[in-house]
Amino acid sequence: MPNEGYLDSSVHWKVRTGQIAFAEPTHGEVADAILDAGLAIEVGQRLGSGKEADVYLARDPRRLVAVKVYRQYRTAHRGGGAIKLESMGQRAVREFELLSYAYLGGARVPKPGARVENMFSMQYLGSAESAAPMLQKATLEDPERFLAATLAGIEGLAEAGIIHSDLSPFNILVSDGSPWFIDLAAGIRVDRLGWPPWVRLSEGMESLRHGLAMLERHFRRYELAFDAEEILSRVRSQIDRFGVMTPP
Ligand SMILES: Nc1ncnc2c1ncn2[C@@H]1O[C@H](COP(=O)(O)OP(=O)(O)OP(=O)(O)O)[C@@H](O)[C@H]1O
Ligand SMILES: [Mg+2]
Repeated sequence: MPNEGYLDSSVHWKVRTGQIAFAEPTHGEVADAILDAGLAIEVGQRLGSGKEADVYLARDPRRLVAVKVYRQYRTAHRGGGAIKLESMGQRAVREFELLSYAYLGGARVPKPGARVENMFSMQYLGSAESAAPMLQKATLEDPERFLAATLAGIEGLAEAGIIHSDLSPFNILVSDGSPWFIDLAAGIRVDRLGWPPWVRLSEGMESLRHGLAMLERHFRRYELAFDAEEILSRVRSQIDRFGVMTPP
């Protein structure tokens, strides 16, 4: 049992009585959980898997949706440190809130649906035949236009008050020739800063710098380049309302 040492007694009780299983849930069990939660009326194939979550294609009464399900215990993080069961529910809460916030702020993210426990639904990107590919795997028809839209999208997220933080060609989907930002789990709110604001802003700027470097590397395959410093300074001046990052 991977995280025994971290479980409190109520969780131990659930484990003993079989209310929590530590075996990998089957596709059917996950589908039942999604249906029981009322997030969909039909569950299809798995669209993708990451370090901490799986995403499933599903259908609500009106349309196809994507449902992200945070795993309760298995993660692929290096080191494989223990995690508290409840924390996966909290991660779903956090990602769903950031997604909703970004969407309301007009950013190019899938429209959020509903969240129940460790799962949430959102707009499905793709067609009935195939899901939208990640930028990493896509063949772009007009890479120059796509790059411009991606950079504008990053600024759009910052305008909505969010720095993505895990920006990479794996977390941008290509749908209808345009970029869509997904996987906001590690996003940073830069509109409500707390104290001291400098800490969160510099954290945000550092992760954005890293994300832009990943994109620079990716777009080299199309022989395209952009000025990451220019984007960074525009985002910085936009989010740094108190001027804390500008040296006197
Ligand atoms: N709204 C969506 N529409 C279509 N496919 C999606 C959608 N959201 C996610 N996917 C697919 O699921 C995959 C995993 O999604 P995502 O990146 O959000 O999770 P993750 O990588 O498991 O996250 P983490 O590793 O941070 O837990 C994506 O690469 C993509 O292929
Ligand atoms: Mg991802």
